[in-house]
Amino acid sequence: MTLTDYPAAARASTLAWPEALKGIAFGGDYNPEQWPEEVWDEDIHLMGEAGVSLVSVGIFSWVMFEPEPGVFRFDWFDRLLDKLHAAGIAVDLATPTAAPPSWFYYLHPEAWVVDADGRRLGPGSRGMCSPNSPAYQEASARITTALAQRYGHHPAVVMWHVHNEYGAPVAECHSHDSQHAFRHWLKQRYGSLDRLNEAWGTTFWGQLYGKWEEVRTPGSAASVINPAQRLDFARFSDDVLLQCFIRERDIIRQYSPSRPITTNFMATSCPSVNYWRWSREVDLVSNDHYLTAVREDAHILLSMDADLTRSLAGNRPWMLMEHSTSAVNWQPYNLAKSPGELARNSLAHVARGADGVLYFQWRAARRGAEKFHSAMLPHGGTSTRIWQELKTLGTQLDELAQLKGSTNTAHVAILWDWESFWAQDLEWRPSIDLNHRERIEAFYTQLWRDKIAVDFAHPESDLSHYKLVIAPQLYLMSAPTIQNLNNYTTSGGHLLISYFSGIVDEEEAIHQSGVAFPLTKLLGITLDEFAPLRPEQSVSISLQEDTLTGDVWTDRFHAQPGTKIIASYLDGPATGGPAITRKDFTTGGTAWYLSTRLTQEGLKVLLDLVYKHAGITPERNLPEDLEIVSRHLDHTEYRFYINHSSTDATVQLPEFTELLTGPQKESEIQVPGGEVRIVKMPHSRRAD
Ligand code: GLA
Repeated sequence: MTLTDYPAAARASTLAWPEALKGIAFGGDYNPEQWPEEVWDEDIHLMGEAGVSLVSVGIFSWVMFEPEPGVFRFDWFDRLLDKLHAAGIAVDLATPTAAPPSWFYYLHPEAWVVDADGRRLGPGSRGMCSPNSPAYQEASARITTALAQRYGHHPAVVMWHVHNEYGAPVAECHSHDSQHAFRHWLKQRYGSLDRLNEAWGTTFWGQLYGKWEEVRTPGSAASVINPAQRLDFARFSDDVLLQCFIRERDIIRQYSPSRPITTNFMATSCPSVNYWRWSREVDLVSNDHYLTAVREDAHILLSMDADLTRSLAGNRPWMLMEHSTSAVNWQPYNLAKSPGELARNSLAHVARGADGVLYFQWRAARRGAEKFHSAMLPHGGTSTRIWQELKTLGTQLDELAQLKGSTNTAHVAILWDWESFWAQDLEWRPSIDLNHRERIEAFYTQLWRDKIAVDFAHPESDLSHYKLVIAPQLYLMSAPTIQNLNNYTTSGGHLLISYFSGIVDEEEAIHQSGVAFPLTKLLGITLDEFAPLRPEQSVSISLQEDTLTGDVWTDRFHAQPGTKIIASYLDGPATGGPAITRKDFTTGGTAWYLSTRLTQEGLKVLLDLVYKHAGITPERNLPEDLEIVSRHLDHTEYRFYINHSSTDATVQLPEFTELLTGPQKESEIQVPGGEVRIVKMPHSRRAD
């Protein structure tokens, strides 16, 4: 990968959004095969009542399309598409390759996924077969071809949805075919066995390979498996899934060249897929998001997921392909959404760039594994609260049609890199409490509370337009990343890096530089030794008049001449040493290093200092739980106020029109507890 490979905007495709979709798309997964055909008419009538404009169909219908190998039945689907089209409802047609028919499993036991313990994962559920199985690849190509040939130009079909959630429920396979494919992939990557041995450091623990046939996928072993081997297996597993997508996509393009093609991502919740790479291959980015219901801050995590999705989309419109109207059925505690939460959640995605709002699923299922999952049309039908709230949202989205195509602007980026996460999450790290995700959430939360717009960025991407870049625990850094960060700060950018960053290169080998730490030049520090803390241990840090608290981690490190010590340890293993440093560049740029896990309060104090240098103004006069996000189109700003608390909020505003509720008092906007207001006003550039 090179700098120009990121973000998604670099992708070759010129198709982006289905032309036929006007305004903000609204709808969900529609699985009519779960119901007798008589129900379809009622479904379509009620979709009209709710304002549904787009449904995803066919996702799990493989066996209904192809009841026997090579025997196709499309009559039922022709009738369905014609009915939807007659009702003015557009179709996002899915290839059903996430749910192979039972005949396929029966005929091809060799295609079953094999897990790391050698267990074969068979039928009776869903989830693909081994992505490396030639039989699976062939059968997937056959059904995809049949669908694309038949429906490639159907007037109802406005876009394609390949597969479903690649990477879930399993991303890795250790079958015989997978062993073979892994070796082939390694040969392509390394060229020779000598090079592989070097990259994997196989002289350690005497793992040297003498023949390619000896190389295997990292299944279960007696002790810890070679970390470089595991990192490559993660890369390989991601890559073979991507190849599955590309194969299906290219078949569809052949027969349906004018319809954009997507596959539904799970931006923050699928650890095994490197969506930076995938976003270059889809015509439009779509995403599934489900709240982690028990978390009090679930709405902040939702925003983070939406911001990551928008970043993957290169700040172009993206589609929320699935979320839920209320409870899901697969978490330990499946909490129903509170009144108003449905709209708050859906509109928060719109605020952060979604031009489509879809749910799983249209009608609640009576049978099967997901019968306790909420739906647009609940078991209780049209008299339910969910239905009423959904209909109201449908009407509101109509009012928001003018927002379509508007974009978000952020001046702060958090670095996000799946390869680094894969590497860091391997075994035998200096502390089991090191948790990159927890740190990203902590930084993001403070920025969210400060009402500062955030993008996520690949560490090798162009960062020059950001005032501030934050790297919370970026364990793996490639040479281009280090160069990129150096360029960024020496050109006047402001960079904040926290501990356990820049430790290894792409081969999972400790970086070699003068002091074995690649950030020495960038941060103006030399790292002496990691000094992680005991569980429950905390340390005190003095920062000007404040005493901050850290836990989990400290470093014994030195500030080089010219680097300022911003805070020092008052106790703990690094007592008396620096805790936070700042290197200033003549261009005005700064590079900050934070060597411990600060509390949320401590992060706020530190970020206040950093904001000042970066010219960023946090919004601290409005309630913390009032989410404020802007989208812009030409000279117009659409500002969303989403009140996540039960207390009413009032915001002073000069000149505006409210889009959801009509006229308001001229100089201020009221946002009742739990509600959303969206104002339209002339574009003003906020300082942050
Ligand atoms: C995922 C799947 C859907 C459904 C939902 C339930 O997003 O794509 O098919 O199982 O989860 O939350």
